[in-house]
Amino acid sequence: MHLRLLLPSLSMLVLLPIARPATAPTTLPVEDRVRDLLSRMTLEEKVGQLVQYSGRDTLTGPGSQAELVPLIKAGGAGSMLNVHGAAKTREWQKLAVESSRLHIPMLFALDVVHGCRTIFPIPLGTAASWDLGAIEQAERIAAIEASATGIHWTFAPMVDIARDPRWGRIAESAGEDPFLGSTIARARVRGFQTDRLGAPGTILACAKHFAAYGAVQAGRDYFTTDVTERVLRDVYFPPFRAAVDAGVATFMAGFNDLDGTPCTANAFLLDRVLRGEWGFRGFVISDWQGISEMLEHGNVADLRDAARQSFLAGLDVDMEAQGYEKHLAELVRSGAVPVARLDAAVGAVLAAKFRLGLFEDPYRNCDEAQEKALLFAPAHREAARDLARRSAVLLKNNGVLPLKAGGITVAVVGPLADSAGDQLGCWSGLGERSEVVTLRAALAEAFPGARLRYAQGCLTTGDDTSGFAAARQAAAGADVIVAALGETANQSGESTSRASLDLSGPQLALLRELHATGKPVVLLLMAGRPLLLEAVDPLVDAILVGWHPGSMGGPGLADVLTGAYNPSGKLPVTWPRSVGQIPLFYAHKNSGRPTPTDPEGKYFSHYIDTPNTPRFRFGFGLSYTTFAYDSLRLSAPVLQPGGPALIVTARVRNAGARAGEEVVQLYVRDRVGSVTRPVRELKGFEKIALAAGESREVSFRLAPADLAFCRADMTFGPEPGAFDVFVGGDSNAALSAPFTLTAP
Ligand code: GLC
Repeated sequence: MHLRLLLPSLSMLVLLPIARPATAPTTLPVEDRVRDLLSRMTLEEKVGQLVQYSGRDTLTGPGSQAELVPLIKAGGAGSMLNVHGAAKTREWQKLAVESSRLHIPMLFALDVVHGCRTIFPIPLGTAASWDLGAIEQAERIAAIEASATGIHWTFAPMVDIARDPRWGRIAESAGEDPFLGSTIARARVRGFQTDRLGAPGTILACAKHFAAYGAVQAGRDYFTTDVTERVLRDVYFPPFRAAVDAGVATFMAGFNDLDGTPCTANAFLLDRVLRGEWGFRGFVISDWQGISEMLEHGNVADLRDAARQSFLAGLDVDMEAQGYEKHLAELVRSGAVPVARLDAAVGAVLAAKFRLGLFEDPYRNCDEAQEKALLFAPAHREAARDLARRSAVLLKNNGVLPLKAGGITVAVVGPLADSAGDQLGCWSGLGERSEVVTLRAALAEAFPGARLRYAQGCLTTGDDTSGFAAARQAAAGADVIVAALGETANQSGESTSRASLDLSGPQLALLRELHATGKPVVLLLMAGRPLLLEAVDPLVDAILVGWHPGSMGGPGLADVLTGAYNPSGKLPVTWPRSVGQIPLFYAHKNSGRPTPTDPEGKYFSHYIDTPNTPRFRFGFGLSYTTFAYDSLRLSAPVLQPGGPALIVTARVRNAGARAGEEVVQLYVRDRVGSVTRPVRELKGFEKIALAAGESREVSFRLAPADLAFCRADMTFGPEPGAFDVFVGGDSNAALSAPFTLTAP
């Protein structure tokens, strides 16, 4: 038992016995310390480590969760969700450490999805930056802030591939592509954990929602998914595998049933693939009440069976369903669940706590001074501003942008122009609306006094057009109109599926009013997904997608609008023309009739009422300069297994009058496979900066493993044959060359 000085608020030094977990010496390997502690735990204490509840921040007083106190005192909750704050987590931690028999500390978890207190653009937005360094730095900052406020574990990164913008959670994803999604998954895990998990400012990351949650039928959240194993392996698994390879500490199972079995109890996912094939050694938590939701799914008769099936499938921790608290001990006693399986699950949770140093210092993240110094620190705000401008995607510009700073008057109009809460987007962590700098406030810096006019105009819902008059008035006195439209934060994220992707409410009507003034109109779209622009495009002279840009989104977007920053974002999702085209993505199959097979041009894969092509392509984004590609060359016409990698080189030139950044993209087509193959697949990218007139050669390495896929016999690997490479600034890259992969 160690004694420690407590610095109390009572201006006297008090020597109090502080309970310390009785564990084996810290010099021993974690595995030995885990084994030692397990050997001294009762069955109930082991089960307690696999139980997580959500806290409401108070343990005493009205509205408190006093009912949890005896459970925590008995070591019955291994972790808590939604309890945060240096002081609050200390209060809850003291209860667990000082009252329980073995003084095992709790983990405190929170959804730190795109920032903790300093909120970055939503993940779909930061994915549009294609800037892995900036993305990793954002998660680093998020982890530093989260650990400073008592958090040990974030439920992020969300790495679901999302190809259906009806699904509101596309906002939390990195978009449609397995290669881009995998590189971003690695960057996010590194940002949260670094390669020294347990060092100050590091937290456990959590790859979610395993798996194929983004494939919900009809884009309806929580709905069923039916994906072939081949598509699982080629499309939905890669970002999760990348997270495992990056050392992600935990996984979360998806809500969806997959091929008839809910992910929560899906042994193919949680045992055969995650542990058997990928060697994952962390632990898996259910999503909120995922275990009890199986009663609705209809694959279990009661909560006991749900707990049994989930646990045996490989689900370690029960979030909020009470399934493990009520039934796991009895299941073990009855022999329905082997003790070895229980010890493996509990051991993984304890190992994480040992790795975080919580047994040496359960209060290491409970320092109010650190909390005050680090949350929303100036450097963090600047990083959020920088990533907000890097995430913006310019889709159209007839020359109205950048806004001419000298002397013009700007009208900023729309429901998203001055809406702090909406700018934060979904899953906004501990973001404070009062700390948000809105677009209106930022533009007021660039266009001071009477040179900025504002009107809300309307909401994103309802049919109230009474604000149009003020909008017309604001526009009348302006040279340029910036229309900030889109969707609010509560129209995005979890449980916000939409059957229509049109601008909601009276927004389109407002845009028509603004267009009718004859003034140039810049659409600044703030949303958590692609929204349809067919009716919008003729009404606007420019389209800038700002996503939900976070705490410093206003200054970041103003930097783009004024030209202080040259936009460099590229779409991480395909932008459809209509809901009827969904799911629409660039890496599609060719079909047997990609083009007309008859003189009338009737018989081929198409719609009779809309083109097959998207409104905007995956990987597309404009700049205030232009980039030209030429001189594509390959190091050899043949790639031989075991031989040197194929080097693909192209020259990129900044052909415009100002410096800019370009995301150079490499795509590959496998001409013939044992199964049909996509018409293109992203296999590399590099974001480069070029001065006006500057040229640079960009090279990519291709090895046979980069061409691997799930073959007809369900093995994973490349196949010899003819391929094409394409290099360019989006998924329509025209510069191409053939090569051959030879047989091993
Ligand atoms: C939610 C989400 C999940 C989140 C969890 C805890 O329902 O599906 O992404 O991490 O509950 O808040």
